[in-house]
Amino acid sequence: MKKILITGGAGFIGSCVVRRFVNNHPDYLIVNLDALTYAGNLQNLKDVENAPNYQFEKADIRNRDEVNAIFDKYGITDVIHLAAESHVDRSITNPLDFVLTNVIGTVTLLEAAKEKWKGHYADHLFYHVSTDEVYGALGAEGLFTEETRYDPHSPYSASKASSDHFVRAYHDTYGIKTVISNCSNNYGPYHFPEKLIPLMINNIINNKPLPVYGDGNYTRDWLYVKDHAIAIDLVFHEGKTGDTYNIGGFNEWKNIDLVQLLCKQMDEKLGREPGTSNQLITYVKDRPGHDRRYAIDAGKINRELGWAPSVTFEQGLSETIDWFLANEAWLNDVTSGNYATYYDTQYASI
Ligand code: NAD
Ligand code: TYD
Repeated sequence: MKKILITGGAGFIGSCVVRRFVNNHPDYLIVNLDALTYAGNLQNLKDVENAPNYQFEKADIRNRDEVNAIFDKYGITDVIHLAAESHVDRSITNPLDFVLTNVIGTVTLLEAAKEKWKGHYADHLFYHVSTDEVYGALGAEGLFTEETRYDPHSPYSASKASSDHFVRAYHDTYGIKTVISNCSNNYGPYHFPEKLIPLMINNIINNKPLPVYGDGNYTRDWLYVKDHAIAIDLVFHEGKTGDTYNIGGFNEWKNIDLVQLLCKQMDEKLGREPGTSNQLITYVKDRPGHDRRYAIDAGKINRELGWAPSVTFEQGLSETIDWFLANEAWLNDVTSGNYATYYDTQYASI
């Protein structure tokens, strides 16, 4: 029986992955290890918390004793590692937190795997979930492939790049079975409202200014979080050991166009006059080191594992807005407390 440790399972993507594995793989035990930082929230997992094949452990991936104890307690057979500090703007303010969690935390987990699985590495998998941001920024043309040279620019992407290198090093040096996937920007239910899409949805609901960084012509490739979870399930089961898979939405949007689309859809859903929310758009000071464009070539995972996004952007965005409108209590809960302090500091100019 597989006993899979999913780290960061109380976060945005992690909770979607936990939900999928708990529901789709009743024969596996899913152990969710999460420190419950500001981004972790057990409300995200209410629907599976009593499932017989699910366990939660509040622990910190930087703490070797805590991690080792969880490996021993459950006899962990595999790891799907998502726990991270994940927000670029916070990494600009507090880079060391990103080094400690994303680099040291990942190596701490790798060390536990190396020790606990010694002598039978072939029977276990360490799956590291990473980001396309490790590849740096694209100009107007081109796509990131698995061969693109790493060129991170933010402390966040530098820390994720470093963690990717450590995962490969543990594969090459110790023979641990590893796999890495690098995904583009996700969106969907339970997305913490410090990131672009949920922040704009929250501000539109509350008639607050919509802060667009710089000229607004920065481009991201957006993927519905449930399609990312499906891809992770496939890579976990069918990915080639030691390999990397890029995951993306084939769905590039300039930030300003995306914000305008959100305004249009939300005006319709909220029964507001067309054009109402557009008036909230406010250009603000640019993010330092802001990567101009990300775009993924997801051809390899499509060819080798048969994965493709199942949801169109229009569908996914509409479902996402509906989810946020139906879950205002969740939104109010996560935006209370220290969110206000973060928001006031980050958006002091508006
Ligand atoms: P998130 O910030 O929503 O969640 C991170 C989770 O990790 C939280 O539950 C938090 O409590 C937990 N965590 C943080 N530090 C921890 C620690 N020291 N010990 C244990 N748990 C800790 O992040 P997300 O957006 O769900 O991203 C999950 C993973 O996917 C990250 O590794 C991120 O780099 C990667 N990723 C994210 C995106 C995206 O668009 N959000 C895209 C590609 C890859
Ligand atoms: P974000 O959601 O932080 O993801 P990432 O930086 O990891 O891609 O930001 C997505 C894009 O939106 C990025 O180009 C920065 C921009 N952005 C804004 O214009 N305003 C905002 O308030 C935020 C949070 C992001």
